[in-house]
Amino acid sequence: MPYFAKPAAGSWTENYPELGTGPVDYNDSIDPAFYEDERKAIFRRTWLNVGRVERLPRTGSYFTRELAVVGTSLIIVKGGDGKVRAFHNVCRHRGNKLVWNDFPGEESAGSCRQFICKYHAWRYDLTGKLTFVQQEEEFFDLDKERYGLKEVACDVWEGFVFVNLDPQESLTEYLGELAKGIEGYPFHEMTEVFTYRAEVGSNWKLFIDAFAEFYHAPVLHHKQAVKNEAEKLAGYGFEALHYELRTPHSMVSSWGGMAPPKDPSMVKPIERVLRSGLFGPWDRPDIDGLDPLPPAINPSRHPSWGTDSFEFFPNFTLLFWAPGWYLTYTYWPTAVDKHIFEANLYFVPAKNARERLAQELATVTFKEYALQDGNTLEATQTMLASRTVAEFPLNDQEILLRHLHKTVADRVKEYRDAAAV
Ligand code: FES
Repeated sequence: MPYFAKPAAGSWTENYPELGTGPVDYNDSIDPAFYEDERKAIFRRTWLNVGRVERLPRTGSYFTRELAVVGTSLIIVKGGDGKVRAFHNVCRHRGNKLVWNDFPGEESAGSCRQFICKYHAWRYDLTGKLTFVQQEEEFFDLDKERYGLKEVACDVWEGFVFVNLDPQESLTEYLGELAKGIEGYPFHEMTEVFTYRAEVGSNWKLFIDAFAEFYHAPVLHHKQAVKNEAEKLAGYGFEALHYELRTPHSMVSSWGGMAPPKDPSMVKPIERVLRSGLFGPWDRPDIDGLDPLPPAINPSRHPSWGTDSFEFFPNFTLLFWAPGWYLTYTYWPTAVDKHIFEANLYFVPAKNARERLAQELATVTFKEYALQDGNTLEATQTMLASRTVAEFPLNDQEILLRHLHKTVADRVKEYRDAAAV
């Protein structure tokens, strides 16, 4: 039985009447005042994914995150009790950034038994408690209990570490049914990570838009395919297998077919040799948890399924691929027209050189596609900023975009209305 009910007749969008079908206003991607309110209404009060637990293998393992969108730097650290905690990266003596290496604006990672401030050597344990003050007797009735690090809500779902500066509900409640249907996927087996990170000159939502629809794929990416495949794609157009909205989150499930391809002439020679390509290495890893997949992945159980993309609001995308690997995207706004894009590809560690090369081919092929997607963003941003046109007609395959912009608008409106009272 499918995890999600089949939609009633009509277009996907028409099954969600609250979305409407009219043109969508993109002032939300160019208006500095709107961006400032997005930061407060959304980013300061939602659960944000800052990484995976594999980055914290032992007691004292830590990493920092520079989160301009919420105006702070955080330390994420594993305590002696195994718990992952998050703290504002600020020393309680005189405000120095507590953890950094050569450049205070750069993220860092490592392992320690305690955090020692570079300025006057105050020390904090792994639970954030202030444990040592240099020349403590020089202070005036200093109560060390009152000067621990400022803690931030932190929780872990399926190995993903989330933080929230002002939680309105628990992480599990927030992630809801979409996430529940993913639980049990063997994330913990996929510990080989390839990472890309880039500053992009566009509003954060525009890059989510680019990845949340496949309408563009036969057009924008046609040069990436061999001639036969490009002609097939151009003639076919595109339509996904399933779309599901669980506000504020959403997902799209799509067909595949190139891993391995039914017709080997459809792929490039290097892909045939390495048995790999955009859809990942063709040989599925032999691990538990992939067969059957958790119920929300390939929810229609379609035999031609290739990939699912889950958009966890506001800025975390989780993509599953049929050949048994996954990737994440995170979009970190730095200004109304800039953001930092992070992509991580996760594989089961290779057992030999050929498997490793297959993973590397998938990784560089992914980069080519991502660059093609990214290539439109700054062009779009500059023309939106011209304010020549404000409203744009989105089609049925762009339902996740319509949903994202509406969810953002609703959250900002709710925040503004409350602030006006
Ligand atoms: Fe950290 Fe003084 S600012 S010890």
